[in-house]
Amino acid sequence: MSAPDRLWINVTLFDGLNTAAEPMVVAVKNGLIERVCPMSELSASEREAGEVFDAECRLLTPGLVDCHTHLVFGGSRAGEFEARLEGQSYEAIARAGGGILSTVRATRVASEDELFASALPRLEALMSEGVTTVEIKSGYGLTVEDELKMLRVARRLGCERPVRVVTTLLGAHALPPEYKDDADGYIELVCHRMIPAAAAEGLADAVDVFCEGIGFSVAQCQRVYAAAKAHGLAIKGHTEQLSNLGGSAAAAHAGALSVDHIEYLDEAGVKALAEAGTVATLLPGAFYMLRETKVPPIELLRRYGVPMALATDANPGTSPIFSLRLMLNMACTLFRLTPLEALSGVTAHGARALGLHQQTGRIAPGLRADLCLWNTSNPAELAYSVGLPTLARRVFAGNSH
Ligand code: NIG
Ligand code: FE
Repeated sequence: MSAPDRLWINVTLFDGLNTAAEPMVVAVKNGLIERVCPMSELSASEREAGEVFDAECRLLTPGLVDCHTHLVFGGSRAGEFEARLEGQSYEAIARAGGGILSTVRATRVASEDELFASALPRLEALMSEGVTTVEIKSGYGLTVEDELKMLRVARRLGCERPVRVVTTLLGAHALPPEYKDDADGYIELVCHRMIPAAAAEGLADAVDVFCEGIGFSVAQCQRVYAAAKAHGLAIKGHTEQLSNLGGSAAAAHAGALSVDHIEYLDEAGVKALAEAGTVATLLPGAFYMLRETKVPPIELLRRYGVPMALATDANPGTSPIFSLRLMLNMACTLFRLTPLEALSGVTAHGARALGLHQQTGRIAPGLRADLCLWNTSNPAELAYSVGLPTLARRVFAGNSH
């Protein structure tokens, strides 16, 4: 076997699911992880080969995966934040034409270049904390052209920075004013125009919906899922965020990669996720910003063995928070995840929520060498402290940045 390009030695390893009990070696070649073994198995000749980097027992984790964001948008909703502090609810603001629709107005008038320029610092903030894979949704255009515009910006972000961008068409996010009182007509547009156009241009990897009283009904979401699947696209859902409509179970039955938010998910819904192998994505930033009090059913998800992913939900309304590290802390303090559960949520399970678990999110032979080296040897530190630049090195596909 020829020499690896880089040998990481004396690594404290969190592989995405578990922490190794002894110092480890990770060999990287051609952008892939070639071998993972204890230091005790490394021969003297192997140690001489390739470029050796001594981690001095610092923690090496998979590159972080933020599996749910709305990073591309126009405008700001600081005014809505103030209104909510004065007592108005998220739902009342949405029903009055604000909320998502106010971002839709700002996004429609923005050019691709403007959207790109405003999204870039948001992406760079995530990357500076170790994110190597990020999902970006559309959903603030709500016309065929404006949704495709958002997806093009998302793709361009992935081309211009060393990060993997997964794109999701969220046409069924809110009812645009042109379709007021005709939700079924709008779903028709999503299914027969938006999804085919996004698929034909290769702009979407997945399709998402907002299944909620202020979003779309379970039956309407099921139509969107069928259209997405007919075009070979994966499916996901914003479900059980504000109420329990049974949207998570419907998504799971349709083969969804993940259901996201799920504060109001019940045991039957958890069971449906377990049976379908659907990931439960927790979004504590939105829970926090909306001052929600209903905690997702963490104990049930554990009991049924449902993988829990964790993401920022970075968006201008419910989670204007561009820090996945902060989500690690919030998942522990607000939802009582253990630090290791939280860390699996932004690595192995985050990758699974995107259908990328064969490519990234774990440190295992054959996967892409997306890695983070931290200035600590204790994984719990990553969830414990907030605001310290603990990242020593971020590696994307074998290259340090
Ligand atoms: O994930 N729930 C729906 N969608 C977003 C919020 C979007 C917005 O308010 O702009 C979410 O919370
Ligand atoms: Fe969201």
